[in-house]
Amino acid sequence: MARLLVTGGAGFIGSNFVRLALTETDHTVTVLDALTYAGNRTSLDGLPANRFAFVEGSVCDAGLVDELVQRHDVVVHFAAESHNDNSLNDPSPFIQTNLVGTYELLQAVRRHERRYHHISTDEVYGDLELDDPERFTETTPYNPSSPYSASKAGSDLLVRAWVRSFGVQGTLSNCSNNYGPYQHVEKFIPRQITNVLDGVRPKLYGAGLNVRDWIHVDDHNAAVLDIIDSGRIGETYLIGADGEKDNKSVIELILTLMGQPADAYDHVNDRPGHDLRYAIDSTKVRTELGWEPRYPDFESGLAATIDWYRTHEDWWRPMKAATEAKYAKTGQ
Ligand code: NAD
Ligand code: DAU
Repeated sequence: MARLLVTGGAGFIGSNFVRLALTETDHTVTVLDALTYAGNRTSLDGLPANRFAFVEGSVCDAGLVDELVQRHDVVVHFAAESHNDNSLNDPSPFIQTNLVGTYELLQAVRRHERRYHHISTDEVYGDLELDDPERFTETTPYNPSSPYSASKAGSDLLVRAWVRSFGVQGTLSNCSNNYGPYQHVEKFIPRQITNVLDGVRPKLYGAGLNVRDWIHVDDHNAAVLDIIDSGRIGETYLIGADGEKDNKSVIELILTLMGQPADAYDHVNDRPGHDLRYAIDSTKVRTELGWEPRYPDFESGLAATIDWYRTHEDWWRPMKAATEAKYAKTGQ
């Protein structure tokens, strides 16, 4: 049993992580979350008060971070500005939260000699050609494309430096595209599902040939629990579930599963610098830690996700209009 401090626990992956940790381990959890536009306190409703606490605040607040880290055994750092499109419109909060926030946490775990796990993304490796037989591995050179991925790459490098120079007990994981419940409607899959529910045609960037390597959020989080439990200090683990799909196929599948013609979508402006393809080789986490995805079938996971959005309009409706207003400004 450990006392976990989970940053960004009111976001998509963090809130699913908290539920999984409370269900599948004996750990207690404190969430530290700034409740930005992406954070939602209701994503954590109904959790047991004897094992769960919520603190509203920023990972950039050195004093608060120090006090919280001191009272916990393990820090699991999810908090970030996470959306590429936003980073193209205004990079500044990405530099602040993703770099400065990670720095403050690293200084605190260094002072108090606490275990630290850093959540990161496959986007730090840049992108692959569509026909490249290679996939990303733990030794692929960093080559980020967007302000978001550059800020995450920088944060990863801070962690590696703090492990090597100061002996911080840290691990890192870089995961591919997650899908599942409680994902903000700015992101590709929930945006299209909620558009269809609203009678609006889904929006495909450019030709839609870009490939993402989809993984169910609970599979990502189960791997994170394994790494906290038995990952080797200083190591990086890539997490992916062999879920490569191009965007066009995903939109067509959403439409089909929702009873619409597969071609009932619009092409809109492409994302500047749009990464072509991500693909993860997750051999290391599978062989070293025995992790395997529990939800390898994308189509049934997507159908369950569609059902979740259909039955949780109260959760997503308050953020939908503002999200679409932002996209309207860039013709997306
Ligand atoms: P999200 O945007 O849904 O959630 C981010 C959370 O962080 C929100 O609750 C927000 O309020 C909080 N936050 C933002 N700034 C903060 C600050 N300064 N202090 C405290 N809290 C703050 O993001 P997500 O999709 O759940 O991603 C979580 C993590 O996983 C990120 O580090 C992201 O880089 C990484 N990741 C995401 C994916 C994916 O597919 N979504 C894949 C791989 C890695
Ligand atoms: O690979 C991991 C990354 O996955 C995470 O680090 C990021 O936090 C997460 O947001 C995600 O990044 P992407 O940029 O891949 O995700 P997004 O959902 O924004 O877009 C997925 C793909 O769909 C991408 O190729 C852009 C495209 N897209 C997106 C939107 C919102 C569309 O075609 N139409 C859309 O409306």
